[in-house]
This record gives sequence, C-alpha cells and structure tokens, in this order.
Amino acid sequence: MPGYRGLYVPGPTNMPFRVRQAMDIALEDHRAPDFPQFVLPLLADLKKVFQTKTGYVLVFPGSGTGGWESAIANTLSPNDTVLASVFGQFSLLWVDLCQRFGLKVDAIPVDWGKGVPLDQYRAKLAADKQHTIKAVLVTHNETATGVTSDVAGVRRILDDLGHPALLFADGVSSIASIDFRMEEWGVDVAVAGSQKGFMLPTGLAIVCVSEKALKANETAALPRCFFDYKDMLKANAQGYFPYTPAATLLRGLRVSVDMLLEEGLANVFARHHLLASAVRAAVAAWGLRICAHGPEWYSNTVTAVMAPEGFDANDIIRTAYNRFDLSLGGGLNKLAGKVFRIGHLGWLNEIMVLQALGGVELAMHEVGIKFEPGSGVGAAVYHLSKAGEATRIAAE
Ligand SMILES: Cc1ncc(COP(=O)(O)O)c(C=O)c1O
Repeated sequence: MPGYRGLYVPGPTNMPFRVRQAMDIALEDHRAPDFPQFVLPLLADLKKVFQTKTGYVLVFPGSGTGGWESAIANTLSPNDTVLASVFGQFSLLWVDLCQRFGLKVDAIPVDWGKGVPLDQYRAKLAADKQHTIKAVLVTHNETATGVTSDVAGVRRILDDLGHPALLFADGVSSIASIDFRMEEWGVDVAVAGSQKGFMLPTGLAIVCVSEKALKANETAALPRCFFDYKDMLKANAQGYFPYTPAATLLRGLRVSVDMLLEEGLANVFARHHLLASAVRAAVAAWGLRICAHGPEWYSNTVTAVMAPEGFDANDIIRTAYNRFDLSLGGGLNKLAGKVFRIGHLGWLNEIMVLQALGGVELAMHEVGIKFEPGSGVGAAVYHLSKAGEATRIAAE
C-alpha cells in the first residue's frame, strides 16, 4: 500500500529526516587530524543527556545488550554476587547474561506488570552485612511490559544502608525519553542503545560510567577486550577510538543529541508523558487493560495492552501489519499472545500517536473485538486537545 508504514514497536523508532540526512555522507577517515573536533564535543554533549557532569559517556559499536555486557565485564569478577529482579523479558535476559559470565545472581521474581521491588531490595541489602553483593541491577524501563521502576529509590536504599554495591541501570528504553539522572541518582553504569530515544538506526551501545565504576574496573577480573572501558577512555581522551568507530552513526548521533538539547530534556520528557497518557486514555476507552499493574509503574515510552479474553494478541499484531502496514510490538516470553505493545517514544508527535491508535482500532475491529470504533482515538484526541488539558492536569 502506498504511504508511510507505521512503525510503533518500542524500538527501533521513527528516525527524523535531519538525522537521516546527517548520515547520508561519504565514509570518512576516523584517524583524521580533525576527527577529535567532532568527537570531543559530542561526548561532552552526551553527558547532558545522561544528566551527569562527572560521568563518562562511552559509545561502542553494538546494541543495548553489548552495553549490559560492558557493565558486567568491566566492573565485576567471577563468582561476584549481583542483586537483580525479573519482571519481563529484558530484566530476565540481563540476569541470563550475568549467569553466563559466571556471576552469582540473586534474582527476585516479580509479577510481570510490576517493577523493581524496593522492599525486597532493602531487605536483601540490609541482610548483606559482609557486602558480598557487588552490584545491584535495575531495569529502569521494562520494555516487555511497559513498566518503569524507581532508580532513585534504589539509590536511597543503598545510601540509607551505607551499602557500597555498584548501581547499574538499564535505560535502553528510557534514556533520552524518560527522565534519567545519572548523577543525582548515583548510577554507576547506565546503558542505552541508539535505536530508541536516540532516534537512530541500531548499532551503538551508549553507556555512561561513574568514577566509582572506573575504580571497580581497576580490580575487576572478568575478561574483556572489545568493551574495555580503559581502552575506550584512553583513546576518547584524544578524540579517537581504540578501533574503527561507527562514524556514520556518530554523525547521526550528533544531530539527534542536538535535537534533544534544542527541544530541551524537560520538554522531551513532558512530550513523552503527554503522548503516553493519551495512549493510556485510548486503551481505557476501548475497555481494555494494560499490563502495568498501576500508575506508579506506567511507562511513558511503551504501553503493553492486554488482549481481551478469547483473543490472541498475535492476530491483532498480524492483522495490523498485513492489512494496515502498522508494526506493533508482540508479547515476549510468557506474554506471547497475551499483549500487543504500542511504542510511543523517540521522534513522535500527536498525530503520529493518533495514527497508531487508529491502526490498532482497524486491526481490533477486523479480528472481531467488540469495542466502539473511534472510542480510543476520540479519547486520545480529547486528551491531547485544549479541552482535555484541565482534566489532564487535575489527574496528574
Ligand atoms: C529494556 C531493554 N534492555 C535491553 C534491550 C536489549 O537491547 P538491544 O536489543 O539493543 O541489544 C532492550 C531491547 O529492546 C530493551 O528494551
């Protein structure tokens, strides 16, 4: 069918034309004498996106998974214990990665639909008088369920208890879209990928590390090479990389960081909140439930919608794709067939959200789900309009 395909998976996201144009260039010499004039300001500006002054941003060729691996391999030793919680496919995979690296993982199982269990983290850390827990893992935004967790809350627990564990945050689907404060929250390694809030193709693992993480790096015994922080920082200090960087993606990243900073991070976060709450208003108007168990868990970048009883969410997703050129995210692992996910992050505005909601309505109607066509779109229109503003503000 002619016209735009709708891309509403929670990453990769829609790519701005400015970013695309910035990458439509000849390949370049990454050892050129003027390359540092491009790299050094980019690394400095990336710190603003992570909201840190003292942290270091490292950009590896890779994806979010590589960022996870870098955090583990650079700061820990075999048999170290880490504290984690599992409440969706991505928090689960991070635990799996830790186990494959020979770490002991105390992984607290949580209902899929909730997030990091602060009380249980507090209890485990309080009981750990010998400080055997070396790192605490927090999946800031669980993309599989549309759940955002309280990273600052974990920091408070560590501080209250005087526990020295490192704090790792997976911000793959939050950083550059949802408020994330590396410095204020005392995060030691934060992981992002290029294909979500940064509005780029997949291909970069963007991580931010604290001084404390670099101190841990000095004694950490796990093997590392490609993701070695020391090698990367040494070369970065001169404006270069220890191996061939994904320079074309870095040119795109330059523009995406410019766009984020031009809009202003606070405005970026407010826009994501507005668009997400319009999606949630639509879901409520359809009479459906979302996977997140309550407002304290709602994600502003992805909403996992529960298919009604008797319907397979995959039929909705397939119909949306085959009939209406609309990509929605599927249910992962035990949510397969139970949810479809609407990604609402990155380069996105009101009418793009209405396109997604309209497409979902078409697909749901087509598979025979009983709901009032137009009800979700109408609720979102109201929510996004001036008329909805007063209700919206009152509800927040
Ligand atoms: C929260 C979260 N963490 C990690 C990952 C893995 O990232 P990647 O697929 O870029 O390796 C994803 C991917 O969607 C994710 O959503």
